[in-house]
Amino acid sequence: MISEGIQNFGVLNLKVESNSTGPLHNSVFMRACRRETVPYTPIWLMRQAGRYMQEYREVRARLSFLELCKTPSLAAEVTVTAAERLGVDAAIIFADILLIIEPMGLQLEFSKGDGPLIHNPVRSATDVKHLREIEDIGALDFVFAAIREARAALRSDLPLLGFAGAPFTLASYIVEGGASKNYIHTKSLMYNDSGAWHAMMSLVSRGLIKYLNAQVEAGAQAVQLFDSWVGTLSPDDYREYVLPHTRNVIRGVRAGTPVIHFGTGTSSLLELLREAGGDVIGLDWRVRLDEGWKRIGHDTAVMGNLDPVALFANREHLRAQARLLLDQAGGRTGHIFNLGHGILPETPVENVIALVHAVHEMSQESRVWS
Ligand code: CP3
Repeated sequence: MISEGIQNFGVLNLKVESNSTGPLHNSVFMRACRRETVPYTPIWLMRQAGRYMQEYREVRARLSFLELCKTPSLAAEVTVTAAERLGVDAAIIFADILLIIEPMGLQLEFSKGDGPLIHNPVRSATDVKHLREIEDIGALDFVFAAIREARAALRSDLPLLGFAGAPFTLASYIVEGGASKNYIHTKSLMYNDSGAWHAMMSLVSRGLIKYLNAQVEAGAQAVQLFDSWVGTLSPDDYREYVLPHTRNVIRGVRAGTPVIHFGTGTSSLLELLREAGGDVIGLDWRVRLDEGWKRIGHDTAVMGNLDPVALFANREHLRAQARLLLDQAGGRTGHIFNLGHGILPETPVENVIALVHAVHEMSQESRVWS
């Protein structure tokens, strides 16, 4: 439950609403997470702050991606600017799923063009033993400081999301050392030494629970777990090697804080994602929203699921695609509009703004009768 009263954050003397009557609790986004009725369908977009946006590129020109993540005032600025510019119904803190692996002893670099690189990947049971348990989440204080600053700057009825990578997606980076197509190292460790695999996944999960709760403590109203690459797994492997860990993380998040559980390529895993948990399940665009929601069950909220490439099409197509998704949601409570994955760097920003308007307008119209 969301606890009563106001939390006080020491030096900053920042007051974050934590009761069940305030404007954040009753915002359209939070109501949708709880499957309550809403005047229109809330929308936000994964990677809404990023290179497709001029304001972001200007900030990024002055410092590296990791430096930006570690400078709370700028990370907060980028978060707030993106949410305000787009007119979305939630902000998401500017950070990265890989920040948490540094305090585990992994050397992380974001190289131009190649994406994330980990210089000392975990490939064996011995490597797993050398991973550091996150005892003190203070190593990630810059994220919590950014959340406090962003929360203070955002409109008082605009929720702020925290997030983390889900255990499997994080493990895939930790073991592969970067992006991967076939996840050969990851699956080899999983199959050849399941003891070491589960030890690593448990260690990562314990760190994630501390990390997510510290984000909530700092002022995030809801959190999202990104299991971006989980679609590479067979359903049986997901059940055996991943589900128990993801479930532990979701159960470990402070009660009353909605958890969005998102993955891509999950058409064959939806029932299992649901079993692992989450108040909201994020769908990618390869599954129809109505079919996916039916399989998940209408007693759980869903988020999604426009193809990010629809944002490159003309306005008529974009509007028609958005309409199709709203129709598939069928006026049920508990739909949060989003893309099926993150905004691509080349996306025209005007189209993103047009989408936000279209979703608000069309979903409001269809509720006139209610
Ligand atoms: O949604 C938001 O606006 C919040 C910011 C956010 C970023 N990364 C910023 C970012 C979020 C939620 C993430 C999550 C993340 N990071 C995921 C899961 C989401 C997904 O898309 O599935 C993953 C897999 C990562 C790891 C990661 N970080 C990758 C693969 C990359 C891209 C590398 C590249 O060069 O394209 C990053 C870097 C990154 N994270 C950027 C941003 C804006 C681009 C960095 C830059 O400015 O150059």
